[in-house]
Amino acid sequence: MNGKVLVAYASKCGSTGEIAKAVAEELAARGRLADVALAENVKDLAGYSAVVLGSAVRFGGWLSPAVGFAARFHEPLRSIPVAVFTAHIMALGESEEDRAGRQAYIAPVLKEITPMSTAFFAGKVDPDKLSFFEKTIGRIVGSAEGDLRDWTKIRGWAGELTI
Ligand SMILES: Cc1cc2nc3c(=O)[nH]c(=O)nc-3n(C[C@H](O)[C@H](O)[C@H](O)COP(=O)(O)O)c2cc1C
Repeated sequence: MNGKVLVAYASKCGSTGEIAKAVAEELAARGRLADVALAENVKDLAGYSAVVLGSAVRFGGWLSPAVGFAARFHEPLRSIPVAVFTAHIMALGESEEDRAGRQAYIAPVLKEITPMSTAFFAGKVDPDKLSFFEKTIGRIVGSAEGDLRDWTKIRGWAGELTI
């Protein structure tokens, strides 16, 4: 495949943007030019021959700018390859329950688009960037804290994308 790749993402605290940047860097290392953009800022897909769409998860689902991106561009995304990644902090294990839990995060997105690859990455929770309410909820649901991003896994996935 030739042509430019768009890596669009949605984030609340910034760490998913860093994942998007790493994905773009891996694509570039393999000769694919890649732009990185916030999902809400993308006006059209003209000039792109493939898309990687990623989102952080909040309260059981993708952030609305990323879901909105999939809905807005579902038509053009039928004719070019699309891959998706999810950054999250719960349901990280390999049990049936965890697998089903994280799959549910992207269920609304899969109604809009059919990705050729889907990845789930452990994300980052920085308590200093959260409101009192968010911290309280995190404690109640037993959310992990810290930077759990596995750059080898992230870059490995990006490097193997055949988009
Ligand atoms: C208020 C709040 C709610 C969250 N809800 C979920 C959730 O339902 N499931 C999950 O796996 N991770 C959840 N997370 C974890 C985030 O998806 C994860 O920390 C992500 O890497 C944050 O990305 P960002 O820095 O780009 O915003 C939540 C984090 C916060 C702060």
